[in-house]
Amino acid sequence: MAAKARSVFRCTECGAEQPKWSGRCDACQAWNALVEEAPARPRARRGAAGGGARGGPGPGPEPVRLDGIAADRAPRHRTGLAEFDYVLGGGIVPGSLVLVGGEPGIGKSTLLLQVAARLEAAGVPTLYASGEESPEQVRLRADRLTEPAGAVHVLAETAIERVIEHAERLGARAVVVDSIQTAYTAELEGAPGNVGQVRECAARLMRFAKEEGPAVLLVGHVTKGGGIAGPKTLEHIVDTVLYFEGESTLDHRILRATKNRFGGVDEIGVFEMTAAGLLPVANPSAAFLAARHEGLSGSAVTALMEGTRPVLVEIQALAARAGFGTPQRVSAGVDHRRLAVLLAVLERRAGLPFGDLDVFVNVVGGMRLSEPSSDLAVVAALISSVRDRALPAEALFVGEVGLGGEVRAVPGVERRLAEAAHHGFRRAFVGTRTGGRQALPPGFELVRVEDLGDLAHRLAA
Ligand code: TYD
Ligand code: MG
Repeated sequence: MAAKARSVFRCTECGAEQPKWSGRCDACQAWNALVEEAPARPRARRGAAGGGARGGPGPGPEPVRLDGIAADRAPRHRTGLAEFDYVLGGGIVPGSLVLVGGEPGIGKSTLLLQVAARLEAAGVPTLYASGEESPEQVRLRADRLTEPAGAVHVLAETAIERVIEHAERLGARAVVVDSIQTAYTAELEGAPGNVGQVRECAARLMRFAKEEGPAVLLVGHVTKGGGIAGPKTLEHIVDTVLYFEGESTLDHRILRATKNRFGGVDEIGVFEMTAAGLLPVANPSAAFLAARHEGLSGSAVTALMEGTRPVLVEIQALAARAGFGTPQRVSAGVDHRRLAVLLAVLERRAGLPFGDLDVFVNVVGGMRLSEPSSDLAVVAALISSVRDRALPAEALFVGEVGLGGEVRAVPGVERRLAEAAHHGFRRAFVGTRTGGRQALPPGFELVRVEDLGDLAHRLAA
């Protein structure tokens, strides 16, 4: 009787909906990103209680005054995995939906199995639903961990209704869904992993978490572009988005909150991948500087503010005579456009030509530079490399570089310098406007740099 509902096309990059297929998304201009999304089948009627007279949603909650709402805040579930709890803002909030994104192989399943084991040990009944691995494979992984995971219930299931049903039956207070891309609901057409499926499954789990109170942790695979595969819109649905990153060839893993309804964002937690699972790294600065060789040209240290914590990282630069053709610009952890700007500014304002040199820049330990405060360190590393002359020992570089070559002060200098002093640094190159002396760690020297010409001059002295 109802006309056949028409399917729509949804962009897997931005989630925009379009009536017709085309090669390029009208909203975000991404190519080949539109996929057909089948219309939802009408939901089964829920009898008389379900709908109002005109088929509306029926009676719902009444508005209430804020001060009339009981604030029965359930305590957070602490896993005791220090860095994980820290990034979440002090543990997992009951009834929250947390998305853990990351590239395949980075350690998401390992992390969440450890979390499940610890929750279970803390008396929180936990269900681990895996659509990617068999229970035997999960068991093998669990055997490697230091956490005893024996009490965790494992379910090899991808139908989201059945996952929720089992969670209810078990009385689970925490549910891990690994991964949201393998989950599907029979109410939508289309294969698991398509945008409609992923969004609908996440929405179901959200309702389940809000209505019945368990915490739900979703694994989401990240595409090469960096988005959680398929729908960016998933990030809007969930309460908290954590990204797990690092280079799978290195041991360090960085967990970063990019959205958190229950805590700060941009806090990071650092882990080390060992044979027995992920171990929290209590002192990230020490870990990132561990392999540093002082006295090597092209190496500079800066202090990043990661959320509220300062973290020291080493930046390495190598400038070498280019072979044929256009010189290469290769960077890891540094935005390549930012690098291009800094090279241009160095050339114009400090007279250091990089035009016919290959330039490679790397942030040690798999960290990414996301603030301009690291500009000065990148530039110092480049100057040091092109002159093949090591930077002064025990020196930190903190400052933003403007297009005029001027070096600007950055926020949070005291905390950055305190962290540096704690790790044996004795001086810092900073912008001229950097605040008063009183905040300096004892015995610490500030070298105020006007601009890049000034920096190049001082480093040559
Ligand atoms: P995994 O958690 O499967 O990654 P993801 O779920 O993000 O795809 O783990 C990735 C890698 O970690 C895998 O190659 C094996 C390694 N690993 C360890 O080094 N130590 C361990 O204790 C475990 C369980 C895994
Ligand atoms: Mg996995």
